Amino acid sequence: MEKFRDNGEKSQSINSNRVDTRKSSFIDADVVEYLRLTFKNEAEIYKLVNNLIKSPSNYYIRVNLTLTSVEDIILQLKDKFPSYIFTPSPIENMISIKIPANSHLILHHPIIYCDKFAAEAVRMGANLYIPGVTEIEGSFPAKTSVSVVMDPKKVPESFPFNLSHFHVANGIAQIASKEFPKKLNGIMVETIESRNKLPPYRQNSLYSDGFISDQHLYANLATKIFTEYIVKFYLQEKHDPIIFDTCSAPGHKTSAMAEWGYHLTKKKTGSGHWFPIKSIDRSKNRLLHLEHDISRLKLENIEIYICKLEKIEKKYPNFIGTGDFIFFDPPCSALGPRPKLYISKNKTELEDFARNQRRLLKLVDKLIHPGGYLMYNTCTFAIQENENIVAYALTKLNYRLIDISSFYPQLGNPGLIYQGISPQKNHYMRRFYPSDEDGQGYFIALLQKNET
Ligand SMILES: C[S@@+](CC[C@H](N)C(=O)[O-])C[C@H]1O[C@@H](n2cnc3c(N)ncnc32)[C@H](O)[C@@H]1O
Repeated sequence: MEKFRDNGEKSQSINSNRVDTRKSSFIDADVVEYLRLTFKNEAEIYKLVNNLIKSPSNYYIRVNLTLTSVEDIILQLKDKFPSYIFTPSPIENMISIKIPANSHLILHHPIIYCDKFAAEAVRMGANLYIPGVTEIEGSFPAKTSVSVVMDPKKVPESFPFNLSHFHVANGIAQIASKEFPKKLNGIMVETIESRNKLPPYRQNSLYSDGFISDQHLYANLATKIFTEYIVKFYLQEKHDPIIFDTCSAPGHKTSAMAEWGYHLTKKKTGSGHWFPIKSIDRSKNRLLHLEHDISRLKLENIEIYICKLEKIEKKYPNFIGTGDFIFFDPPCSALGPRPKLYISKNKTELEDFARNQRRLLKLVDKLIHPGGYLMYNTCTFAIQENENIVAYALTKLNYRLIDISSFYPQLGNPGLIYQGISPQKNHYMRRFYPSDEDGQGYFIALLQKNET
């Protein structure tokens, strides 16, 4: 008997005969169109978007340098996960983990179907949690061997259903099928083998005791550059700057900045300093992650504000015009992170991102005072959401670009030439592509509000 979570509709057969006739099987044509402004060459677009579907060869984790060292964590990781290769990364607080090549998985019945979010995490070795399950096949006791497959019913009709692509893992069901309809939370499948298996470091005490965190190399680079400027200000002015992290949840950048601030002041002065950071986001749920991380990572001096940027002026009028440093990481098309099972976004959705980024930037701009710094970053490589937004800040909001090209020059590429940005200054910005083995799409620009 089949068990259904929602409307009782039976999932379409996994032997779906949807046929792939396009150059890029798992990317909406609108996404390719959207990227035509960024790349002149169509072959390049297809190469990049097809890379997004593949696993990168390396994955990165951040080491909490306020508690430990990279060398010590590498030794411990090698001991706990001997079949993996861990190496220091170009940025001194990160470790790279070599991801094994795609494993070939043999399909087991019963199958547990899940949504895209769950499937992408399980593909990298995470367990499958009950909220991500959409349907289960047959009737089985706990501890049955099962396969985890992205639910064909949830894959947009425009994509072919390819079982070897959507079968993400095999594992052991943690509950009997008859328990499933009664449960809202907990583990449904413990993943044993997955397409691209990372070591299960999140289930390890190194993670729960706050020594390591999830973060990508380039997001970490943005926080490092930003904090270098914060520390410089502190050492020159001899007092704390006012720092806002806007659009901060789930708080990966707030926690990275706090760690960098403590580590860099300790390195430069002999004693670590916790900079005060006001971390603002509209999402209470997502901010719970930061709250948890503050205690897990043993961070200090972070204040959390659950507030829409639209309401800041009214709710916290004393914040207006005070910011010395503002980190701005708005919602974006997120085309950069990989691997993805597919990318389904239409023209209207894509075009809305830049509109919203401009609107939020105008709100964030109210927090800063002349001379203050604004770090803009996105995890996408579309020019509409990157150089276009920087040009808006330069031409309409009275900012200038700061040259960040000397930080880790071996990483990334200069920004693109764009109207409104002086052609001599495109290299002040940094952009990243999912072009090589472990690249992801990302963009970083540091701006300063002009005094007059
Ligand atoms: C890209 S995510 C931020 C990721 C975060 N900086 C980190 O590193 O963990 C964008 C965030 O913007 C927040 N956001 C979107 N619109 C907002 C608004 N109007 N006011 C405040 N936060 C907003 C979302 O809730 C989301 O958490």
